[in-house]
Amino acid sequence: MDKFTLRPAREADFSAIRTLVRSTKINPTGLKWQQFIIAESPGEKMIACGQVKTHLDGSTEIASIAVQPENRGQGMARVIIEKLMLNASRPLYLMCRFELGKLYEKFGFYAVQAEDMPPYFRRISRLASLVDLLAREGTTLLVMRCDER
Ligand SMILES: CC(C)(COP(=O)(O)OP(=O)(O)OC[C@H]1O[C@@H](n2cnc3c(N)ncnc32)[C@H](O)[C@@H]1OP(=O)(O)O)[C@@H](O)C(=O)NCCC(=O)NCCS
Repeated sequence: MDKFTLRPAREADFSAIRTLVRSTKINPTGLKWQQFIIAESPGEKMIACGQVKTHLDGSTEIASIAVQPENRGQGMARVIIEKLMLNASRPLYLMCRFELGKLYEKFGFYAVQAEDMPPYFRRISRLASLVDLLAREGTTLLVMRCDER
């Protein structure tokens, strides 16, 4: 892994965060720079980002984990996820494509069924299934939970 600095995002990072998140086609909503941490190269290029969101029902979500394509496979997502998990309350939730379930299992997350989801996640996953059905993309969305510290 090349050298990098991990730090809370600043307002000036917002544009780079939005560009990276949009380019990876993950959920582009709810991007509050105040909730993000970023990893940046010595040249101050943003390498990776992620945030923890708190929803109106009180549930907490780790979200917007994204790494620049040229920096993937070097443990950058792990660094971001571990740092966010250090300060986040439990239970901690996330939403991801089915294929990424294996990645998050490495951090103690497990998939939960609709009846065990907080209201926010139940609503969003119902909506996502509907959108997916309409788009016929065939992807499945997982809601996962972590209780461990
Ligand atoms: C998914 C993503 C964040 C992974 O970033 P990364 O920096 O390459 O991941 P890391 O190198 O830190 O990998 C951490 C661990 O997860 C595993 N992993 C990485 N990508 C994986 C994948 N697509 N499927 C399953 N496991 C994966 C790695 O093998 C590694 O395991 P290890 O620590 O036991 O060796 C990155 O590919 C990305 O930005 N994708 C586009 C955005 C996205 O889909 N974000 C996830 C939103 S839920």
